[in-house]
Amino acid sequence: MTDDRNSRGFAAASGLSRSGRSERPRMSDDHTAASLSLDAARWPDGFLWGSATAAAQIEGAAHEDGKEDSIWDAFARVPGAIAGGDTPERAIGHYHRVPQDVALMRELGLQSYRFSTSWARVKPGDREVNRAGLDFYSGLVDELLEAGILPWLTLYHWDLPQALEERGGWANRETAYRFRDYAVAVYDALGDRVSHWTTFNEPLCSSLIAYAAGEHAPGRREPRAALAALHHQHLAHGLAAAAIRDLAGEHDGRAEALRVGITLNLTNAIPDDPEDARDLDAARRIDGLWNRMYLDPLLEGTYPADVLEDLREHRFEELVHDGDLAAIRQPIDFLGVNHYHDDNVSGRPLPEDTVAAPVPTDRPKSSPFVGSEFVTFPSRRLPTTAMGWEVNPNGLRDLLVRLTAEYPALPPLYITENGAAYDDVVDEDGRIRDLEREAYILDHLDAVREAIAAGADVRGYFVWSLLDNFEWAWGYAKRFGIVHVDYDSLERTVKDSGRAYARVIEQARDAEERAAGAAEVVGVPTGPAAAHA
Ligand code: FCB
Repeated sequence: MTDDRNSRGFAAASGLSRSGRSERPRMSDDHTAASLSLDAARWPDGFLWGSATAAAQIEGAAHEDGKEDSIWDAFARVPGAIAGGDTPERAIGHYHRVPQDVALMRELGLQSYRFSTSWARVKPGDREVNRAGLDFYSGLVDELLEAGILPWLTLYHWDLPQALEERGGWANRETAYRFRDYAVAVYDALGDRVSHWTTFNEPLCSSLIAYAAGEHAPGRREPRAALAALHHQHLAHGLAAAAIRDLAGEHDGRAEALRVGITLNLTNAIPDDPEDARDLDAARRIDGLWNRMYLDPLLEGTYPADVLEDLREHRFEELVHDGDLAAIRQPIDFLGVNHYHDDNVSGRPLPEDTVAAPVPTDRPKSSPFVGSEFVTFPSRRLPTTAMGWEVNPNGLRDLLVRLTAEYPALPPLYITENGAAYDDVVDEDGRIRDLEREAYILDHLDAVREAIAAGADVRGYFVWSLLDNFEWAWGYAKRFGIVHVDYDSLERTVKDSGRAYARVIEQARDAEERAAGAAEVVGVPTGPAAAHA
């Protein structure tokens, strides 16, 4: 059941120099309005342009039409859990603004919209199916299809029904089977119109950060429960993926169009000092807990032996029952990659002059890195976003190239989240000139294109996020949107970054159309149908 290649290091690889600086200048090093346009060179045919959100972050209506508490509703009531005492109760009111929000997507030229369904809306308390909840998503899907936008559905973006948490949450193996039943309920209602299904968003966060670090709901600081959550979410993924595929097979024509996958947040763990054995070991550990504990079981049906050894005292293997790894390793049609930053890692204490990274609240937290709690993340003195995350587009390129090199079973990749929080200013003329976010997005797109040129099979990009929203423990204090939301009036205004992204999409589509026109003359098949098979 294990994989003894502990040297499959994302750790060892990086396109960074020792200082972590990019080897070539990026727009973010010197960005002026004039420099901010990505050249319209060709993207692969059918490259999919989208944007992403998640139910708990935008919907609001937290207790309307039968919806009951998710763990985020309950967590928001814990004093000090969320910055500013914010809650997802109203969020940005998307539940009551679907037509307007889809019109915005259309205005931006989005080809796909990645959203999540809320389990606590579809099956409040994980009891019977709530028709009104499913009707909401059904209406959204219809609206998207009418606008010519591909719905890209995620089943779990962190909002477990609170009733299930009270029965042990993800630490309880039974929750995996409940997830399969919820997935079936959503598929039954939407499978006739939705072809792209993602089981989980970033299981690292909904296991280790939620159950060991205590920063995310349910806010537990129990290492063993976190490891159980990790394994049970893998199992839930496998059970749901298989159930959806079986159901699609029962309907004419659906199986061919069906695409099932999962989204992981992956990093490069860069050893701070590649000559120092402690840093190399720390990077191996973080690579293991952050990347390989997800990629290996999902793609290869194994857990990495070196990480199991790091977790010896927690007896991880006892969580893995006979048959689990086969159930987890389902064929997947795509892997979603979320990436915001990579990580400089050390096995030594932080230097004394280290400026502490910003934290959402002063509620006590633990390390999410079970068994490797001593690992530190020294600064590389790169520019940072408002989250304190280092900006390093080359990290995304390196990650994509390494995934391609290291995993023979890798399916096509989609960047399902990438974007940045900055402290936006609404100018007197009402415009939001968010040049830093614009540069961040364009530089990362450049990095994606370099990865494609180096052989990575990347087929789409979803910017995070379409709209400013409820940023989990940060509440409304951090804005990631390419569309600004006024949190009093809920009015939406496209930011300059949104306009820039719309231009990129338009140029890419124009270039594709021109090429298709030229190909038609010589009879070569091109376009989305040729690329998305
Ligand atoms: C990711 C989450 C997403 C959002 C971004 C900033 O980890 O998937 O919901 O919070 O970070």
